[in-house]
Amino acid sequence: MVGGLISGGIVLVCTALWTRARYRMRSRSRYLLGETRREEAELSARAGVDLKRFFILSQRLLWGQTQPDLFTVDLEAVIAELLSEYPDFFVAHLLVAFIRREEGKDELADEALARAREIEAKLDVPRERSLRHLLPTEDEWAGIPPKVSLQEVVPGVVWRVPAYFVHGKAPLPEVSNATIVRRRDGGLVIYNPVEVPLEIRDQILELGDVTHLVIATKFHNHFIATTQKLFPGAKTYGVRGHLKNPPSKELHFDGFLCEGEPLFPGEIDEFAFGGHEFEEVVMIHRDSRTAIIHDLLVSNRAGLEGHTFWLRLYSFCWGIDERVGVLSYQVILWTKFLSVRRTVRALLLANVERVLVAHGPVVPAPGESPQLHRALGWVCELGPIEHLVLIRDFFAGQPGFFRDFVRYMIRG
Ligand SMILES: [Fe+2]
Repeated sequence: MVGGLISGGIVLVCTALWTRARYRMRSRSRYLLGETRREEAELSARAGVDLKRFFILSQRLLWGQTQPDLFTVDLEAVIAELLSEYPDFFVAHLLVAFIRREEGKDELADEALARAREIEAKLDVPRERSLRHLLPTEDEWAGIPPKVSLQEVVPGVVWRVPAYFVHGKAPLPEVSNATIVRRRDGGLVIYNPVEVPLEIRDQILELGDVTHLVIATKFHNHFIATTQKLFPGAKTYGVRGHLKNPPSKELHFDGFLCEGEPLFPGEIDEFAFGGHEFEEVVMIHRDSRTAIIHDLLVSNRAGLEGHTFWLRLYSFCWGIDERVGVLSYQVILWTKFLSVRRTVRALLLANVERVLVAHGPVVPAPGESPQLHRALGWVCELGPIEHLVLIRDFFAGQPGFFRDFVRYMIRG
């Protein structure tokens, strides 16, 4: 009897908390994280279709194609589903073109791209409301990356250089930017080092001695070994997660970023996102008020150098278009929500003038600091149960991902 009453009470309290959280989340978009449902509806209006199912199906295709080691997806079945639900939406055909190209099925890819272009060309949409920026240029479709150069972002202090790279045999390049900071002692630290041509390596060395290579997020490993060869005198620092992540666990590290023990105290502040599978550490260079971010945020702004077709389409499908934001899958990677929220709060107190993200423009658009608040401020308004609501909603749309994700978490 008493046990029954206690159980009933617990169920009642949980139901009340869940209902309250749902109510508090009623105006938030779960597809465009940080944005409202009104903004989601506005994007759907621009697209001319309700995007909810498009997001679900496109995300399934993207992870099935780009991460087959983690996620099992029947690509043919999902493509058929996507095209039957969105026969007249050009981005659906564009996505099919992307998947076919990545699969090496070039003829099918060209056909799908032609269909996407044909549908888009018939649309009577003002330029500012159009989604045509998602289409690839001829060079992008041919897999020809832009020319790479070293660019000064803050005179004498901060530089950036992008690398355009492909996954395996897939021909369409993604972009990752390195940020080079000259410290007060003249030494250089490279955050998110990327492979660069020798002439650019030499240009960097003319700026000063490269003393540190810092890879401040667990899933970046692609360029560690090559950049160690380019800058043999530099020490390499990663995050502890690199030690267990298969692509990086055999690589050499001189040390790991530690919460409360910044590499350059008083000069470059570190904000460690414990409780996030990325294990990312966001840097803020005090003198230039520059935030340096690896994967936590993506900046998707058409028309700026560094926005490859790959990045534009991938970001759009995960809910970021013409803004800086959190890709919508990240909520399932927050294993300790309160810890993530605490770090976001601390980060937003910092005085930041510009935001440099690894995946985004080489040189950011003006006014990126307000974007940091817009991109992350919403996290501070959530509680743990609201976070659970987001996770539940994500997996309700992607039950196959839930199975694969549990397997990944168990495997570690
Ligand atoms: Fe990344």
